[in-house]
Amino acid sequence: MSERGEAVGVIGVGWVGLVTAACFAELGHRVIARDIVPEKVEALTRGDVAIHEPGLTEMIHRNAERITFTTSMEELLEGARLLFTCVDTPPTYSGDADLSRVRAVVAELGEDSGHVLVMKSTVPAGTGESIRRDRPGLSYVSCPEFLKEGTAVADFMHPDRVVVGADAGDEEAADAVAALYAPLGEEGEILRTDVASAEMIKLASNAFLATKISFINEIANVCEEVGADVGEVARGMGADTRIGSSFLRAGIGYGGSCFPKDVSALKMLAGNTGYHFQLLTSVIEVNELQKRRVVGKLEKHLGSLIGKRIALLGLAFKPDTDDMREASSLVLSARLQGEGAEVVAYDPVAVERASPMLTSVEMADSAIAALEGADAAVLVTEWGEFRDLDWAAAAEKMARPLIVDGRNFLDPTAMAAAGFEYEGIGRQARPAPTKVS
Ligand code: UGA
Repeated sequence: MSERGEAVGVIGVGWVGLVTAACFAELGHRVIARDIVPEKVEALTRGDVAIHEPGLTEMIHRNAERITFTTSMEELLEGARLLFTCVDTPPTYSGDADLSRVRAVVAELGEDSGHVLVMKSTVPAGTGESIRRDRPGLSYVSCPEFLKEGTAVADFMHPDRVVVGADAGDEEAADAVAALYAPLGEEGEILRTDVASAEMIKLASNAFLATKISFINEIANVCEEVGADVGEVARGMGADTRIGSSFLRAGIGYGGSCFPKDVSALKMLAGNTGYHFQLLTSVIEVNELQKRRVVGKLEKHLGSLIGKRIALLGLAFKPDTDDMREASSLVLSARLQGEGAEVVAYDPVAVERASPMLTSVEMADSAIAALEGADAAVLVTEWGEFRDLDWAAAAEKMARPLIVDGRNFLDPTAMAAAGFEYEGIGRQARPAPTKVS
């Protein structure tokens, strides 16, 4: 037993599991976190945190005495009753969620362990019901995660809402899970639902956010044609509280381990019931096309890209993470190389993860080094350091100071003053001022 009641169990210490373990420990609980990969467990026991997530390493070190990392399922089952399952559910080739790791956990738990399986992994609606059918001795609670990479620790501690889904018979288990989150209750509502609804809340939330992004991206594309500025349009739209201002940043498309996977999983889930989810088909297509539009923007200025040196600034799917899953940089670099361009890239933290995925891309060790001699730059990830770059000095070093700002992150007027031809997404292009010598 810990300072605050029973120990919390965590199964799978990837990104979600590790944040969950650290934050429950921070709330004063003893945590037993189990993973099947011995090297991962050994590293975490030594205090080596391989995941780049602001505040996480410090939180794990601060609470080291409260967290036990183990490979042993027996140790976990002996020490904890509530088992937060945080194994990944990657997409299969057809777009469904691959539930093999979830099934492996259920198999290990056995017939009747008296434990509560608290599902944090994102699973299709219906998964909880089928697990309950197979393992009637196990209590089941759906508690989807809504953490964002880069702000996961803060999101856990200050949730908009916590969803706790349980079906008849598992009310006591749901009470126990809700009690763990009670100290955060002032921050966000604890919503009690049935299991299928909790599962759908997770998928529908991610799909809706992805829809917002694809929507604003299409608005941006129209803005370019009609002389409007998508930033202004989003500001005006977002001021309507029914719409809200978040997730209306136009750019070169969403990536990451969640939106692409969950949108396609929801589409497949609907399809499996015989319902064609028309809207999500378009959301996915718009996202794919958006990444490719950058190529057209470069060609508009440079003509053929054959032999042109293009610098990618940022590789991670978003700033403050080294996560490369479904990153727009992967599609973009392949497209640019397909057009005959030479690609050089820089990212403040993701180079190590990106290098094996982008073997034919030259990796630079600074933004300036990447820009040197380049015919154009594309800002792919909005890392803060790009805003502070000495762009006038960068312009001097480039073969042609042309930038496509894929995240509308830089100030177009300042970039033009620094000598750049500037193109954003849904913003009007700005030519560099002609130099008077
Ligand atoms: C997303 C959700 O936001 C979380 O609530 C959810 O828990 C998580 O998925 C998950 O299911 O695990 P995450 O993938 O970490 O979180 O990242 P987001 O910050 O949501 O960004 C996703 C992508 O959308 C990024 O590529 C980002 O650049 C892009 N984006 C975001 C835009 O293009 N425009 C925006 O306005 C916002």
